[in-house]
Amino acid sequence: MKTIDELAEAVLPRIAAAKDTAELEHLRVEVLGKKGSLTALLRGLGQLAEEKRAEFGQAANSLRDQIEERLAERREHLAAAELEKRISAGALDVTLPGRTNTVGSQHLISRLTEEIVNIFRGLGYSVEAGQQVETDYYNFTALNTPPDHPSRGLQDTFYVVDRSGAQAAISGESDVVLRTQTSGAQIHVMEKQRPPIYILSPGRVYRRDVADPSHLPQFTQVEGLVVDKGISFADLKGTLDYFCKQVFGAERLTRFRPHFFPFTEPSAEVDVSCGICHGQGCRFCKGTGWLEILGCGMVDPNVLGFVDIDPEEYSGFAFGMGVERIAALKYNVSDLRMLLEGDMRFLRQF
Ligand code: DAH
Repeated sequence: MKTIDELAEAVLPRIAAAKDTAELEHLRVEVLGKKGSLTALLRGLGQLAEEKRAEFGQAANSLRDQIEERLAERREHLAAAELEKRISAGALDVTLPGRTNTVGSQHLISRLTEEIVNIFRGLGYSVEAGQQVETDYYNFTALNTPPDHPSRGLQDTFYVVDRSGAQAAISGESDVVLRTQTSGAQIHVMEKQRPPIYILSPGRVYRRDVADPSHLPQFTQVEGLVVDKGISFADLKGTLDYFCKQVFGAERLTRFRPHFFPFTEPSAEVDVSCGICHGQGCRFCKGTGWLEILGCGMVDPNVLGFVDIDPEEYSGFAFGMGVERIAALKYNVSDLRMLLEGDMRFLRQF
């Protein structure tokens, strides 16, 4: 009996103290397994004197029941704890920073182009797509650009198919060029549409320029064209003054400076008052108080002649602006090349 009590004293506390189910299983084998200590005691039963056998056997069996019961209880408890631990180890930690999904966004130039288009849509203009690969006829000739005009030269224009420059233009054979301006869209529109015409044509243009802080070999222009009865220079001024105030702010002033473009007469360049010094003159506006933002003018009757619109009946105005330049002036971008580079550190600011 002493050995049974001793065994109970040795085993039961170890069951209670077992740290995990593996340790518990170890203990079970040690006590109840084939070579276990209690099994050995039960086996030795036969050697006991007969009168002690029944009592000893009962005690040993009852200890075995007790041990099995305790083992089962403890196993259940430990298994639950282990499961809990496994679940929490694999669980989502809501305090971890998430993996960001980097979604792209509209480039500043696309956004500003859309903004410009929307201002004119509000005035009833519609949008006409132009084409980036153009013939000399649409890019120059029909825009009243004389054959010897410097912009036709290889210096300024990318020729895709060169039928030997000005000579081809004169003979009516047209070179294929990357358009240097969106103005050719005016001709395409007037060829297929009769007045009233109120259109805008945004798109990319190309020039043989080396990129520097104020020049890009490819950039974005927005062309505008109005042809209707009784259109005057006052309409042109009112429209572009409204446009400038929409883009830059109601407090900004505009001025129209006489200029020359082959396809408009009279022509002008439009300046907007400097937003930094408000016309006082500063470094940004090179001391003038004004920033040049676009070219414009009344459509030259010669241009209307190319598309068979009677200049006695109709008149119109046209304008063209560089979106990169407007972006630079609006957001104070000191180097236009940053608009082409796609550097997120720069682009994220807008
Ligand atoms: N095409 C001219 C340029 O690239 C800009 C321009 C000036 C467009 C006057 C026009 C205009 O429609 O009337 O410099």
